[in-house]
Amino acid sequence: MRFGPRTWSVASTLAIVVLAAGGWVPAALPTALPTALPTALSIRPGADHASARVRDLAARRGLRLGTAVDDGALRNEADYRRALARQFNMVEPENVMKWAIIHPGPDRYDFTAADRLVAFARRHRMTLRGHNLAWNMQNPDWLEHGHFSRDQAISILRDHIHTVVGRYRGKIAQWDVVNEALDAAGRYTDNPWLRAIGPDYIAMAFRFAHEADPRADLYYNDYDLTYPGPKADHILGLVAGLKRAGVPIDGLGVQFHVFPGTVSVSGVGEQMRRVRRLGLDYAITEFDVALRLPPTPAELRQQADITSGLLRTCLGARNCRTFNLWGFTDRHSWIPQFFPGFGAATPTDGQLRPKPAWVAVVDALELESRA
Ligand code: XIL
Repeated sequence: MRFGPRTWSVASTLAIVVLAAGGWVPAALPTALPTALPTALSIRPGADHASARVRDLAARRGLRLGTAVDDGALRNEADYRRALARQFNMVEPENVMKWAIIHPGPDRYDFTAADRLVAFARRHRMTLRGHNLAWNMQNPDWLEHGHFSRDQAISILRDHIHTVVGRYRGKIAQWDVVNEALDAAGRYTDNPWLRAIGPDYIAMAFRFAHEADPRADLYYNDYDLTYPGPKADHILGLVAGLKRAGVPIDGLGVQFHVFPGTVSVSGVGEQMRRVRRLGLDYAITEFDVALRLPPTPAELRQQADITSGLLRTCLGARNCRTFNLWGFTDRHSWIPQFFPGFGAATPTDGQLRPKPAWVAVVDALELESRA
């Protein structure tokens, strides 16, 4: 969510040779692409891209290709629902499983929107990622300003996690259990849990989640891991310590809200290997590439190169099987609101037409073979 002033360049050199929109809005395709692109495009002979479903390509590669889902769009936009079901084999709620929405009063849960996404995912045979169970943001006032004793806070955290994870036991395959517990400098983030319980809340949250669904994969999720630095070191130290202590943690979720120039793809490959040596999965959980508005064709190209480089790196790593976009269309993306002047961060435009980054996704899925 916050970005360091880093200047690593992206190492991807893969040329776009395939256009494989796979059913977005084929007839409207070329108008969405920058003028420089069509010259680089050629459909490989014999490839039947029009009928390919991208989620099937992903599944064949053993990849969970997912996206955060906007609840309003899920309710109101048929084209959004169609594209979602057709292109992705995994979904994650962008907001509706956060505390403020799902647990609005001390004794009140509201599962309406969360249930809607779970039902959609099951109808379309999609994997679910749950997000999230302990964070410093989007908490209800009663929690944020509650001034609880340590025991009270532990019991609130336990009840919440048992209730929410328990409700979706066997239905949610991956949970972001703790989100952003460290700040940019690598210190513990202030939140109701840290204040009342202390850093032990992290291990507790994982244990509670494991009690509620022993088969769900449990992740620690954070930002600022896309380049080397104190925060990345602290996070790796944190998850290594949890694992060593026997806490039921299965993986590290890495957010990847990036700007061009803030991610080193080769550094990410090395980080995946480090995480693997700890015995943990590496999930790309919130991928988007924010561009200055309006983006130039060269910037859209850069976005595609980052996407391609990262996805190929993931496909080449044995412990990376989750690639989740933080929104799949510029129609619904958090970037313009949170980073004024930036946007165009997802792989399709506001009409769901593929941008070069989407072509890069399909391309990487088709061309790369798992190492
Ligand atoms: C963002 C959502 O996209 C917005 O709609 C919401 O207003 C704020 O939160 N890291 C996370 C996500 O873990 O939950 C955040 O999602 C983006 C940053």
